[in-house]
Amino acid sequence: MTQDASNATAPNGPKRVLTGITTSGTPHLGNYVGAIRPAIEASQEDTNESFYFLADYHALIKCQDPAAVQQSTKEIAATWLALGLDTSKAVFYRQSNIPQITELCWVLSCICAKGLMNRAHAYKASVDVNVADGVDADKGISMGLFSYPVLMAADILMFGATHIPVGKDQIQHVEMARDIAQRFNHIYANKAPILTLPDYVVSDQVAVLQGLDGRKMSKSYGNTIPLFLPEKQLKKHINKIKTNLLEPGEAKDPDTSAVFQIWQAFASDEQTAAMRQAFADGIAWGEAKKQLFELINAELAESRERYNDLMSRPQDIEEQLQAGAARARAISEPMMAEVRQAVGIARLF
Ligand code: TRP
Repeated sequence: MTQDASNATAPNGPKRVLTGITTSGTPHLGNYVGAIRPAIEASQEDTNESFYFLADYHALIKCQDPAAVQQSTKEIAATWLALGLDTSKAVFYRQSNIPQITELCWVLSCICAKGLMNRAHAYKASVDVNVADGVDADKGISMGLFSYPVLMAADILMFGATHIPVGKDQIQHVEMARDIAQRFNHIYANKAPILTLPDYVVSDQVAVLQGLDGRKMSKSYGNTIPLFLPEKQLKKHINKIKTNLLEPGEAKDPDTSAVFQIWQAFASDEQTAAMRQAFADGIAWGEAKKQLFELINAELAESRERYNDLMSRPQDIEEQLQAGAARARAISEPMMAEVRQAVGIARLF
């Protein structure tokens, strides 16, 4: 089951799916289950045109450590490739290799109401923290953070994307992209609309994974299990997942257990049912974690080898990204030419 925006304007023609991955951090099991695995599966459906990109300009908002941004870009690209993203079908590129995106971002900034950005939740949350701390409301807030939904709108609208798979926290931004596109078309498109209105897609089937401490697995909580840890370390991390003090032989509640919840994200229906029974029968935490390690390791072992191999050959990763960027620019260059013309930035004769 997926939930599309209710005001869907699915255009005729193929579904064009697009999503971005901010390059600030190392991919973890939560990213894999919640975003990467479903995206790669979707890209294998014949009816979809898929666009996946590394949002490295977005990364600068959160991360001002140049080496970390570069390392994350390499890791995320290697991860998607190692997991089997078919780059002959999906267009896989780096945002910064498409200069038209930042150009479009400026044009959109000039028609986007500031009040719309005031309502963006990431910005509002930062303001709320400052107000609660009794400091200046805008302390530590950059223009990048304030206006990042405009950059995200440019990412989406540049390619005429129709379906934007996102987490719930990003729904608002896709709606803003829609508002911005509508306003642009209203002002500048006299005949046919220039920008396509996108819809968000939020799947309720993909799991939001719990982390080591039972809260949502997230880099900001420091509770993640990185996706391609060496085997021994993966085992160690899994052993760190928080459990209660129930002894072997005592029945355990699967529905409040991070171990069970992560199990479920990797297991078949039968395996999930079997583990539910094992919990009722009082499986020892150590044993449950051992089985969880084996299950995850079996799913990831082959890709991990490909990942390590790719990480040692960054020139091959770069080549794939450059090839993807060339395909993306075949769309972005004519689109930006049309936008410039529409707004009156054009040759004089
Ligand atoms: N802002 C998104 C996130 O933090 C990443 C992103 C950037 C994105 N541009 C996008 C997602 C365009 C979808 C479409 O997760």
